Amino acid sequence: MDSLEWDAFAEARAAGMEAPVFSAFLRPLQALKAHSPSTWAHCLRVGICACRFARSGTSSEIAPASALRCGIAHDAGKLDVPAEVLEAEPFGPEHYAVVKGHALAGFRHLASHDPEAALVAGLHHAFQANPYGLAPAGIAPAILALAKAVAACDFADALAHRHDGRYPEAEHSPKAARGVLAAAFPDQQAYVTWLADNVLAA
Ligand SMILES: [Fe+2]
Ligand SMILES: [Fe+2]
Repeated sequence: MDSLEWDAFAEARAAGMEAPVFSAFLRPLQALKAHSPSTWAHCLRVGICACRFARSGTSSEIAPASALRCGIAHDAGKLDVPAEVLEAEPFGPEHYAVVKGHALAGFRHLASHDPEAALVAGLHHAFQANPYGLAPAGIAPAILALAKAVAACDFADALAHRHDGRYPEAEHSPKAARGVLAAAFPDQQAYVTWLADNVLAA
């Protein structure tokens, strides 16, 4: 087990999940670790981030254990995307067109394993300027809150770790990265402030 996986188990314990329960949750997701190690690391970081965010008290509407599971599983659909597309640098429109299928693929993959995580995987790209995946209409507010928190952690993690040319101004400047994050989540200033302090500036 690597250090990110240890961190994820520590978060699970802090969120009240027993280690065997958390292990059983992780087991079917670990195919992603072999498929794309960098995507797996991203998923662990997003889950850890979402759980810490939920535990910070910034938002009372998100349960830490749900945030951890849904954050880790959010990109499960990337199992269906070739690794060379996932890890393409620079990342161009031709790669983006293929990757967009991962939201609905994640919803399908997770539906029987963890229905809450399935919805969040389907929804986590539904709040951006050019949304894709599941549409938020008719989804319970608690699931939408969870999906928005995961989406914000996902975006912040990409700004902090994925320097593939999509946001060149943010690559070496936490301040510029904070501006990109704030523009992407204009009605979520509490998320932006916490993520800027705990992910972008870390
Ligand atoms: Fe995604
Ligand atoms: Fe992601």
